[in-house]
Amino acid sequence: MKKAQLAVVGCGKLAQNQHISNILKSRNARLHTFCDLDTGVLEDLMRRFPGVAASTDFKQVLANPEIDGVVIATREDMHAPLAVEALLAGKHVYVEKPLAETPEECALVVDAQQRSGKKLLVGMNRRMAPAYREAKEIVKRHGGAKALYYRIADAYAIDWGKDFGAGKRLIHEVCHIFDICRFMTESEVETVYCLSRRQDEENIVLQFASGATAMILSSGYAPWETPKEHLEAVAEVGVLTVDEFCELHTYGMENEVLCKKYPGHSHIEREQSHVKWIAEAGLEGAVGLRRMLADVQRRVETLDHSSEEYKRERGFLDHRLPHINYSVDKGWLGAIEHFADIILNGAAVEAATAQDALAAARITRAAVISRAENRIVSMKEIQ
Ligand SMILES: NC(=O)c1ccc[n+]([C@@H]2O[C@H](COP(=O)([O-])OP(=O)(O)OC[C@H]3O[C@@H](n4cnc5c(N)ncnc54)[C@H](O)[C@@H]3O)[C@@H](O)[C@H]2O)c1
Repeated sequence: MKKAQLAVVGCGKLAQNQHISNILKSRNARLHTFCDLDTGVLEDLMRRFPGVAASTDFKQVLANPEIDGVVIATREDMHAPLAVEALLAGKHVYVEKPLAETPEECALVVDAQQRSGKKLLVGMNRRMAPAYREAKEIVKRHGGAKALYYRIADAYAIDWGKDFGAGKRLIHEVCHIFDICRFMTESEVETVYCLSRRQDEENIVLQFASGATAMILSSGYAPWETPKEHLEAVAEVGVLTVDEFCELHTYGMENEVLCKKYPGHSHIEREQSHVKWIAEAGLEGAVGLRRMLADVQRRVETLDHSSEEYKRERGFLDHRLPHINYSVDKGWLGAIEHFADIILNGAAVEAATAQDALAAARITRAAVISRAENRIVSMKEIQ
């Protein structure tokens, strides 16, 4: 079977936790080349995955006619320029979120995508999460989403997001949720109200053209054991919830499954028992895993970071155990296989596009203005 030939550009934490493993185990894509500026990263990857080419030169990757598409997972500042360059060189593009930090930069990518005639997907991967795809279909059968509640709570402000500068959580993380709210309601946002009493913790209310509303609680102060995400949708009549991508419930929705669990996500180099564990125990399984891994992580961090023991334990955590945030299926593998289907067969695009990323960036800007000025912001005010 013909496979889409992909290069991963930016082979850091996310690429190693998700895209590389997912491409290698996908039904329809082949990992052709690793591209990174860091030769140490490339050497490590070539040792772990023999048979995949490696390059520090993005232009060389783009010039290779064997490569059909690039998966860009560099940091935020390089997403838009690399995506534009790849599109104009005739490559299909899967690029991580946020597509760019401003609507203006997103618009440049929309323009390049349209001029190039190539496809571009953005890694707002929740649209491809099995639980969310099913949730959307169920809610549609019951008249569509009228009111949404979404909680996203993680360690952004106290851990991994600290390097990005305070106040950026809306741009880097909540863009996912603005996108999934548009996906669930199939409608455009008309007004945004964002309340915040400390950096990187917000309550946001969205009003949609359809009349639907969404309320988002985003907090960066939730330690690792906290289940990260909860979606709640009220349909015409009846309620649906999804917890941590692995457990869906319906309440008062006739002829629907009352409770369904979704398997965890597996990585080709790592221990996999959590897949079955989450499939069988759902949220309870995911929370148990979070508590256990958070505990191990905390213990490892107390070790002297220059010691051999720290390196060994850290390596075990990073390369053998499931990563705490990547153990439930948020749609990463589905997104990669969908990208390959689009390249190979021209499949209709169901994942987030550059236009969707632009819409998310505009909502983000409205939220930032609302937060600063403590008022409801109309999307008509936003470029
Ligand atoms: N979709 C998701 O759920 C999700 C989850 C986590 C992170 N992300 C996004 O993924 C992106 C990467 O995050 P990360 O934590 O892996 O970052 P990282 O810093 O660990 O990795 C980035 C890598 O890109 C390389 N790089 C930088 N500039 C390059 C260039 N011009 N050409 C080639 N390589 C280059 C760096 O050397 C590094 O290895 C971020 O934008 C982040 O927001 C998305």
